[in-house]
Amino acid sequence: MKYVIVGGTSGIGLAAAKMAVDAGHEVIAIGRDPAKFPAAQSVGATTAQVDAANFVESHRFFASQPAFDHLVLCVSGSAGSGSFRDLTLEDLRKGFEGKFWPQITCAKAALASLNAQGSITFVGAISSRAMKPGTAGLAAINAALEAMVPILASELRPTRVNAVVPGVVDTPWWSRVPEAARKELFEQLATEVAVGRVGKPEDLASAIMFLTTNTFVTGTILDCDGGWKLKNA
Ligand SMILES: NC(=O)c1ccc[n+]([C@@H]2O[C@H](COP(=O)([O-])OP(=O)(O)OC[C@H]3O[C@@H](n4cnc5c(N)ncnc54)[C@H](OP(=O)(O)O)[C@@H]3O)[C@@H](O)[C@H]2O)c1
Repeated sequence: MKYVIVGGTSGIGLAAAKMAVDAGHEVIAIGRDPAKFPAAQSVGATTAQVDAANFVESHRFFASQPAFDHLVLCVSGSAGSGSFRDLTLEDLRKGFEGKFWPQITCAKAALASLNAQGSITFVGAISSRAMKPGTAGLAAINAALEAMVPILASELRPTRVNAVVPGVVDTPWWSRVPEAARKELFEQLATEVAVGRVGKPEDLASAIMFLTTNTFVTGTILDCDGGWKLKNA
């Protein structure tokens, strides 16, 4: 099978690229920054430089592709968090532009070359339902994506459409938080989830592999969050 992983050069997407290659699949990992390409190439993926937020670039890339089987959408920006009083509308818009629009742009563009029997997997975030103060913007961005999944699964049949929903996962996404503060934050967050640890990229990669390879699963939002929502139970 052939996978295109948008955001496959880092974190969850990179772990999914490695798992797919190790399982014998062909993988194209997409990102913007070529400095991240060697990581994807070292796990056996080929790389392509595409800005998924750019409609023309994304359509050009997918139109140039021979047919492929699985589209995985791991793109994310970092904007859109903070308390509602402090969150600017500009930052919230940037949040949608960094995650919602690139994932939707690629999902639409890929339809031209995605095999009908294949799948689309979005990557959301548990902020969509975590009800945590300071995450209203992230909740809106991710809930918007997740809300589309069952409807797309219905409209695009027989192509399967699912989403995997991470809790906190230790990836380069967090590198903006200085190392000591990040360690402390992860230790605190680990006490808040049922499994007592933050996630590893491989936890999410195996959820992505399940959704792409199990041909009886569609329209599903698969939480892979260590039991985040059980924290107050
Ligand atoms: N880590 C967490 O705790 C966590 C929690 C909940 C949800 N998630 C979600 O999980 C997904 C993966 O996140 P991650 O933690 O693995 O982040 P990451 O390590 O920062 O990886 C993000 C990937 O997306 C690529 N990317 C970003 N914008 C792009 C664009 N416009 N066009 C093409 N590629 C783009 C990045 O490469 P370039 O920068 O080079 O383009 C990189 O390969 C995201 O949707 C994120 O919101 C993560």
